[in-house]
Amino acid sequence: MRLLVTGGAGFIGTNFVLRTAATRPDWQLTVLDALTYAGNRENLASVAGRVDFVHGSVADADVVDRLVASCDAVVHFAAESHNDNSLDDPWPFLESNVIGTYRLLEAVRRHAKRLHHISTDEVYGDLELDDPARFTEDTPLNPSSPYSASKASADLLVRAWVRSFGVNATLSNCSNNYGPYQHVEKFIPRQITNILTGVKPKLYGQGRNVRDWIHVDDHNDAVLAILERGRSGETYLIGADGELDNRAIVALLLELMGKAGDWFELVSDRPGHDLRYAIDSSKLRAETGWTPRYQDIRAGLTQTISWYRDHEDWWAGAKARTEQTYRRLGR
Ligand code: NAD
Ligand code: TYD
Repeated sequence: MRLLVTGGAGFIGTNFVLRTAATRPDWQLTVLDALTYAGNRENLASVAGRVDFVHGSVADADVVDRLVASCDAVVHFAAESHNDNSLDDPWPFLESNVIGTYRLLEAVRRHAKRLHHISTDEVYGDLELDDPARFTEDTPLNPSSPYSASKASADLLVRAWVRSFGVNATLSNCSNNYGPYQHVEKFIPRQITNILTGVKPKLYGQGRNVRDWIHVDDHNDAVLAILERGRSGETYLIGADGELDNRAIVALLLELMGKAGDWFELVSDRPGHDLRYAIDSSKLRAETGWTPRYQDIRAGLTQTISWYRDHEDWWAGAKARTEQTYRRLGR
């Protein structure tokens, strides 16, 4: 298998490349990454001899065509990924997420290659806090933010290229990930690094919004299961039954890091803030046999806290820049 991984220097892509290099020794891996503020080539230093790295954008038709021509399959992680940034400046989300996916689709169509498109449960909009429903593959797309609208647009392009041109593609929509190498702009690493630097965790609004948390390794195992056993043209929802509100996550972090339970602050809310996401992953489990290995979020968070404790060099620069942006946004 010659696999092209887009966005392989970001959070989920890095974990995917490290895991795949270790568990699939005969696969040939190439990473295409634009090294935006969210990408870090050093993440892949331990596999540098084993993985080809190309610095470039998925929106660049020539580089995409050349790389797709010489692989068997593509796993497409590359994207602008943060809601708060999309509210501040939407254009990079359209360029990377929509145009970038279009470029890849045209290249896999031209060269008859397999594509697995990585997406998010945020394309489905949000659920009420007291609604027993969860998202399924049949839930209509109803995105709220420029980020989720750009991901929903990309998903629709993939579905159209499957139906109209017979492109061999699968899609997955996963819930919120946590784990090592996640950028400190995101909720869990922002709060861990706040606590490590003596700053109170910051909850948007009343902190009652619910996310369905999954460890990044469980997400990536599901992606490999879909690559190896998924049916062409199908969408699979990925989730590990990890619904918790943001206050509960902060309470766990404070407990695991030895701080008082009330040591947090409420800050101004994100405009358009989705209330709740929740995934029903029955289809993925039934068709591929995948099950999450991190059943206990305490164990996953304990491992993640240790990683941030041990890797201050990795996050300190990004932390300073990120908090400057959040100060400007008043959050
Ligand atoms: P991230 O922001 O940490 O990493 C994104 C990577 O893509 C970075 O390395 C960046 O340099 C690269 N990139 C951005 N624009 C590019 C372009 N035009 N060309 C090439 N590379 C480019 O994001 P992440 O959290 O690792 O998310 C990866 C994928 O998973 C995204 O498609 C995201 O929508 C999806 N997803 C994320 C989550 C989550 O909780 N983080 C959940 C579900 C789905
Ligand atoms: P985030 O990690 O940005 O993921 P998403 O918006 O894609 O779900 O945020 C997760 C949740 O945490 C979301 O409800 C917003 C909230 N949040 C805070 O309460 N405080 C913060 O500092 C951040 C970054 C997010």
